[in-house]
Amino acid sequence: MQSPKYSVGLPAIILVFFCFSACKHDPFVDASQHTITENCDPDTVYFANDIQPLITSHCAKSGCHDGTSDEDEAEILSTYTDIMNSGFVEAFEANNSEMIEVLTEGGDDRMPPSPEEPLTAAQIELLKTWINQGARNNECSGDCDTTSVSYSGTIATIINKYCTGCHSGATPGGDITLTNYTEVSTIAADGSLMGTITHNPDYISMPYGGSWLPDCKIDEIRIWVDNGYPND
Ligand code: HEC
Repeated sequence: MQSPKYSVGLPAIILVFFCFSACKHDPFVDASQHTITENCDPDTVYFANDIQPLITSHCAKSGCHDGTSDEDEAEILSTYTDIMNSGFVEAFEANNSEMIEVLTEGGDDRMPPSPEEPLTAAQIELLKTWINQGARNNECSGDCDTTSVSYSGTIATIINKYCTGCHSGATPGGDITLTNYTEVSTIAADGSLMGTITHNPDYISMPYGGSWLPDCKIDEIRIWVDNGYPND
């Protein structure tokens, strides 16, 4: 009666061993994790605040990594879980993460592909820092300042972060570019800025793809629009 015991025991031990060693560096561990909300720390990069908007506007655009492309089955990168499941991100190891490799390499393999502009060095640095800090599903709150809203200090930063990735370059979304005051004030004046970000049914919801801007950002934009969208 020794051998049947062994035939169950040994595989079980091997299984447990494999599970421990495999799970240790496995990005899937984080993928099931709920978003962790903390107070904003200037040295931390946050998925919800910093990384998601960057990836949405540069990678998960319509026809690219958003699940609508059937060209070469581009990996879907719409949510945190998608991104971690893609295998492109190795937590704590930016230099071993394919996501960083494809952003920085030259030639035809670069992402986003030409004619899209490459990400800036600062954007790549942000992604690297997020990965090296553990590629967490984190979010921070407490950076909402609705008392001193200005175009240059507040609105341009929001638009650059959440909108310009799709609304610039050779093929901007809806043929609308949002790269300077004149362009942004045009959609402020015709109502489509507030209409799109508040998901008013008369407009197409922005950022494209169904997500909402954080409440604080919507409030800041509303204050600026209500003030007559000054170029301050
Ligand atoms: C992921 C890409 C993407 C992002 C990010 C994005 N847009 Fe768009 N936007 C589009 C596309 C594509 C269209 C055209 C949609 C269509 O015509 O079906 C569009 C259209 C628009 C329109 C015209 C819509 C209408 O109903 O008249 C406005 C205004 C606009 N975007 C503003 C914004 C603002 C403001 C942001 C940031 C908060 C933003 N977009 C972020 C892709 C994007």
